[in-house]
Amino acid sequence: KTSELILAIETSCDETAAAVIEGGRVIRSNVVASQIESHKRFGGVVPEIASRHHVEQITLVIEEAIRQSGIQKEDLDAIAVTQGPGLIGALLVGVNAAKALAFSLGKPLIGVHHIAGHIYANRLEQEFAFPLLALVVSGGHTELVLMKEHGSFEVIGETRDDAAGEAYDKVARTLQLPYPGGPRIDKLAAEGEQSIDFPRAWLEPGSYDFSFSGLKSAVINKLHNAKQKGETLPPADVAASFQASVVDVLVGKTIRAAEEFGAKQIIVAGGVAANRGLRASLEEAFADKQADLLIPPLALCTDNAAMIGAAASILYQQEKFADMSMNARASMPL
Ligand code: KG4
Ligand code: ZN
Repeated sequence: KTSELILAIETSCDETAAAVIEGGRVIRSNVVASQIESHKRFGGVVPEIASRHHVEQITLVIEEAIRQSGIQKEDLDAIAVTQGPGLIGALLVGVNAAKALAFSLGKPLIGVHHIAGHIYANRLEQEFAFPLLALVVSGGHTELVLMKEHGSFEVIGETRDDAAGEAYDKVARTLQLPYPGGPRIDKLAAEGEQSIDFPRAWLEPGSYDFSFSGLKSAVINKLHNAKQKGETLPPADVAASFQASVVDVLVGKTIRAAEEFGAKQIIVAGGVAANRGLRASLEEAFADKQADLLIPPLALCTDNAAMIGAAASILYQQEKFADMSMNARASMPL
């Protein structure tokens, strides 16, 4: 069957999401209930609160996704869900809902890796061409992934400490910006000058790994020293200089990997793909290169279930089904 209908569920962090995807590429519905407001006053995602919200929202969100898709539950071909990685209590809500639905409807169950979902968000816009290089940048991940065919993922580089989004969120907190800090820094950076010379962690020659904790510390130290001297650094300049350092390394390593592996397509995935500085720099870098650059529209960059349905389509075609013993996994290899 080439145009299978998959109901997909995503609850790995702070969005309760469900979607119906047809043939891996057509969005029939895509419902996201965000919990950001509930976590804001704590300055980050509180796992217990996330789980409770998922429990409250999951049935409504699934029903709404089915209603908006215009199909009947019985017409679904499979139920897919994010199995991991993520917050275990949050993941469990989605996994249990998916199992219950698959069991009661008598449909196959598919477990999806969250990062595979972020990568496949791009296939909702454009068909893949291999070899494909994906730069995955989110709150929990910073990875360069090489794909030679559908469903195969080779991690050629990853962060050794903080993820890119995590660095954004921590620096934002230091600048006393509200959670989630990434979009705030992005906005501030557009108004500032890159006047502060922050370090760029290129690591050993040839390495595709990343490291952002040194940069984060450099920003914190700089702000601390200025404060002790009674000076104030313009926050917009700090944001612009920090962002330039992150973007330089992300883009520099992506260009080098694209050349080494002869990538036909470059894909950017994860929440930080929404970053305007990163988008602009990649667009400029790949304007005159052989590889095509794909960056998903903003709504598909952050967590959603449409991307999980897109990734699940490949597993459906390959008949890689899970059974009722499937469990959520807080950490899980790609
Ligand atoms: O993929 P995502 O929604 O959740 C996971 O981590 O899986 O990514 C969220 C991360 C947060 O760290 C958030 O601050 C960051 O993406 N982010 C951004 C921007 N929008 C979201 N970081 C920089 N610039 C942005 N415009
Ligand atoms: Zn994510």
